[in-house]
Amino acid sequence: MKPFHLGWFLQGSSVQAWAEPWTGAIGRDWMVPDLFCDMARALERACFDYILIEDSSYVGESYGGSTELYLKHGLAVPRQDPAVTATLMAAATTRIGIVPTFATFTHPPYLLARMIASLDQASRGRIGWNMVTGSSDVAARNYGLDRLPDHDLRYDMADEYMQVVNGLWDSWEPGAIIADEQTGVLVDHTKVHAVDFEGRWYRTHGPLNSGPCPQGRPVIAQAGGSPRGRQFAATHADTIVASIKGTAGMRAYRDDVRARAAAAGRNPDHVKVLYLVNPCLGETEEEARARFAARKARAEQQVPQLLAFFGKITNIDFTKYDLDAPVDSLDLRTNGHQQSLDDFKRVAGKKPLREALLAYRGSSGSVELVGTPDAVAGQMAEAMEEVDGDGFLISMSDVSRRTVAEIADGLVPALQRRGLARRAYGHAMFRDNLLEF
Ligand SMILES: Cc1cc2nc3c(=O)[nH]c(=O)nc-3n(C[C@H](O)[C@H](O)[C@H](O)COP(=O)(O)O)c2cc1C
Repeated sequence: MKPFHLGWFLQGSSVQAWAEPWTGAIGRDWMVPDLFCDMARALERACFDYILIEDSSYVGESYGGSTELYLKHGLAVPRQDPAVTATLMAAATTRIGIVPTFATFTHPPYLLARMIASLDQASRGRIGWNMVTGSSDVAARNYGLDRLPDHDLRYDMADEYMQVVNGLWDSWEPGAIIADEQTGVLVDHTKVHAVDFEGRWYRTHGPLNSGPCPQGRPVIAQAGGSPRGRQFAATHADTIVASIKGTAGMRAYRDDVRARAAAAGRNPDHVKVLYLVNPCLGETEEEARARFAARKARAEQQVPQLLAFFGKITNIDFTKYDLDAPVDSLDLRTNGHQQSLDDFKRVAGKKPLREALLAYRGSSGSVELVGTPDAVAGQMAEAMEEVDGDGFLISMSDVSRRTVAEIADGLVPALQRRGLARRAYGHAMFRDNLLEF
């Protein structure tokens, strides 16, 4: 079996795991993201491919039409601009890929292309962009819009957006920078071109004044899950991140995006699909089981927070629903993260809302991983064998130096012993490491 690609899904440059055990003084110290820089170093020690910094740019207010719960519990707020965290993480490391999230409606293409190119330069070719189209009208209002465009239209616009930013990143031909001290020529102007893009939604002149990306173009990460979203991801992404319950669904998803990539004329092996998991480790099986039970018990205490969080990405006010009502009797629809809601409904079926929510959002990610590091490494191997996949995106609801060390210094060495994780980076730049196997 080939080794897994490993990513970390950092839920925002924000207060993580407020008031959980082992998080230290995070409630007071969050403004300086030392925790995230320490995390980047630890994950680089473990030779992770990348850290993805999730983002949204609004304070949630879907739960009961109020910001109260979000603010009270620190649910994705306060959170800093991921460009700042990405810069500091890049400065703290030399090999790991850093993938901040930016939405198409928050940044005009030129601004985005220039910022990402600058980050790629400053990190010596280690930047990715998690490309999202947004999920909330509340966020849209922060940017002067009345509401987000409809779900599928957002992806049509995003296709054009990609054309623009790719044009800008390509506006510097390879070899344009000569830096010839003899002739005094820094840049060969014949190799730097205007873009002059005029589309349906976007216009730009170009060329990009930041100069080129060391990687040519940054690594594109995407998480489209709906049919339209998958089509988009398969067309543009170097790595697709997915949260799908169960190996059958994971496999079907991967087969589908790979087929779509091939149909779009791409090599499907150049699209690495990573699945979200939330491993629960212990020194013994008993300890791991006990921690898993404690995690579930904590989730049961936090049903309103789970509903508020799910409601934030789907724009649904879950206070309106009876927690004992079967999910399939509820008219749940969204113009936000459509696939997340569809997958939830698929898995939930007739289960009561509360029970379904706890099963879906309360515990473990795509597959349940519980045990000693070696046992979990075995469970990951089994899952990957069934899925025929590329790797995992680790996510921890209780991010702390302790949980990061459990992964970096416990789980990853166990994977390495089985030949399932790299022991050293093969390349200096992010995409080259992603394409290494
Ligand atoms: C692992 C993962 C990470 C995601 N990160 C973000 C994010 O940071 N910001 C955001 O607005 N959406 C994020 N999304 C949502 C996706 O961009 C997408 O909207 C969602 O998966 C639903 O797919 P669809 O848009 O095709 O319905 C993420 C989704 C997944 C599965």
